[in-house]
Parts: sequence; structure tokens; C-alpha cells
Amino acid sequence: MTGSAESAVTMQAVRFHEFGEPADVLVMEAVSLPQPDAGRIRVRVIACGLNPADWALCRGLFAGKMPRGVGLDVCGIVDAIGEDVQDVAVGDTVLGAADYAGCTSAGAAEQAILKHWTLVPAGLSPENAAAIPLSAETAFRSIESLEVRHGHTVLIHGAGTTVGFAAVQLALLKGARVIATAGTTHSAKLAELGARVTAYGDGIVERVMALADGPVDLVLDTAPPSNVLPELVEIAGGDPKRVLTITDFVAANELGVRHTFSEGHPERWDMLEEFAKLAAEGKLFVPIAEVFPLRAWRKAMEISLSGHARGKLILKPDLRNARLDQTYAE
Ligand SMILES: NC(=O)c1ccc[n+]([C@@H]2O[C@H](COP(=O)([O-])OP(=O)(O)OC[C@H]3O[C@@H](n4cnc5c(N)ncnc54)[C@H](OP(=O)(O)O)[C@@H]3O)[C@@H](O)[C@H]2O)c1
Repeated sequence: MTGSAESAVTMQAVRFHEFGEPADVLVMEAVSLPQPDAGRIRVRVIACGLNPADWALCRGLFAGKMPRGVGLDVCGIVDAIGEDVQDVAVGDTVLGAADYAGCTSAGAAEQAILKHWTLVPAGLSPENAAAIPLSAETAFRSIESLEVRHGHTVLIHGAGTTVGFAAVQLALLKGARVIATAGTTHSAKLAELGARVTAYGDGIVERVMALADGPVDLVLDTAPPSNVLPELVEIAGGDPKRVLTITDFVAANELGVRHTFSEGHPERWDMLEEFAKLAAEGKLFVPIAEVFPLRAWRKAMEISLSGHARGKLILKPDLRNARLDQTYAE
């Protein structure tokens, strides 16, 4: 254990003992129940959202002590509280981010230690709550970094990703005019929200410029890396400083495009309560692709790794599904 103490009681958790391809290194196994350190809480996991970041962790992003868990987004019921925590009580339902670096397991487990949390407001389902944290935090931080303001015309490239979908809503809330590129899965919903939507792929420059009546003020790239940054710079009138990518750091450095790690902006977990409030009010929604029992984690991982998740993939430890139980049980 790197941070928290452990008990003799065990639980099921998905984790890795060495770096490598997620399908090769991840296993579900019985692990000691972690105890929350000061400033942490433990929850009984109701729902856990998977992210591409989980697979990056397996491949060595943020190297550290092993073993470690995956599943960064969590909704659960508080069942233990570390010292110095005063804003929640045992029995409260919270959403938040797992302490993936300070603990030997994370959210894809029966119980999880959280580093950041807020209460789940009335009206927000556990699945929708678990879909929020990482996507909303990344989208918010990126929109803030770009300094999106009322009246700006902003392109969200890859708005069919969960981060992009959240970014469209946050940019619209700022009063921006939003153009979105997306596949067919979420294009109708994005248009309903108020974005002007077009497909990504060949001809993107002409299509976006036609929708915007010329270059846009700002571009946020949330799409999986696909060699599109030169076209996005063109859409931003040729100015790479008006483009921010959260995915293609190599090309960004070559082109002078801004990226997550060039910004030096701290993570915005302080906004979790606001994200939850917006979600409960129906103003911030992260689409869910599919919900699986925890023991079907491998199927959920395969879909995410395909690059076409089409929404958040959610794991639920208590979900019973006879078909999936038979097909995916380890
Ligand atoms: N830098 C950071 O801090 C940070 C944080 C979180 C995530 N990320 C990265 O941001 C990206 C998005 O994360 P996510 O969790 O939102 O991903 P995700 O929802 O799993 O992304 C999958 C979606 O990407 C879309 N897509 C696939 N190929 C595309 C292409 N060539 N162009 C545009 N869209 C494409 C597809 O939507 P359609 O149905 O529209 O095709 C697909 O459903 C990932 O690469 C992730 O690693 C970075």
C-alpha cells in the first residue's frame, strides 16, 4: 500500500501490477480493503466511469508504486472517513475522483478511496453522477484556459467524446457560439443543445468555415489524436495560439499549438459541486454508452480501447445481468 492502511477484509478490484497494454496487465482480484488516510474518504462503489486515461495509466502515464487500480470516476456511498474530513458523513452518496495514485486500487472495485468528492444532488442518478467528474473537469479547465467568452465563436473538435460533449455545454453556458464536429451518435443531441454540428474528417476546414462564416475565434480539440491539428489551426485563422488540444501533444509542440500540459493551469476539482449542481439541473450531461456489471470490466475496456466508445462506459459492482454474468465472468 502506498498511502492508506489495509485491513484483512477483502474486496474485488480491477488493477495492474506492471505497466503494459491494459488487456495484458489488468486483472480482477481479491484485494485488502483500503482504509482512508487523512483527507480521504472510502465509498461503497455504486457506479464507476471508465476513461481513456485509465488505459494511459496502465501504459505508464504517471509512473509510481504498484499495484494500482483503474476507474477514476466514482459515485458511491461513504462508508469510512479519514481524519480532517468534515464535509461528509457515513451514508452520504457522493460523486468524485478516485485516489488512483495514492492507493493500490481505484474506482473499478467494490469499494474505493476518493481524493475529491461532492454530494450527489437529488435528481441525479448514480450512473449519470459517475459519468461527470473527469470529463467535466477536463472540459471546464480547457474552456477556462482558452478564455472562452460571451460572443466568441468556438469550435469543439471531437464533440462526440465525453470531454467534448461536456465542453460544448460549458462553452454554450459562457454565451459562446459553438460549432461542433462529431460522428452520428451524438450529432442530433449536440444540435438540440445549441451547437452547429458537422462531421469530422475530409473537408472539415471548408465545412466549419462555412458554418462560422470564416475563421473561428478559438478551437478546442478533444478528439483522439488524428493528425488534424494543421487543419484546426487553419480554421483558427492560422494562429496556433487560438487552438488548444487535450490529446495530440507531439503535434501541438511542433506547431506551437497550446495543450493541456503547456498551460500550467491547476486541476479544477474545486468545481465538482458546481458540476453536480449543473448536472442535477439538466445543464451538464455526459452521455452514457453502456452500463456493465463490474465483472464485465473487460468488455467495457475493449469498447473504450476501440476509440469509439460513443459515451461513458459505466461499471456497477452490484448490477446483476444473467447474460453478461455468463459471458464475461472471470
Ligand atoms: N489532457 C487531459 O487532461 C485529458 C483528460 C481526459 C481525456 N483526455 C483525452 O481526451 C480524449 C477524449 O476523452 P474522452 O474520455 O472524452 O474520450 P471518449 O469519449 O472515449 O472518446 C471516444 C469518442 O471519440 C470520437 N472519435 C473517435 N475518433 C475520432 C476522430 N478521428 N475525430 C473526432 N472524434 C473521434 C468518437 O465519437 P463519435 O461518435 O463522434 O465518432 C468516440 O465515441 C481522449 O483521447 C483522452 O485520452 C485528455
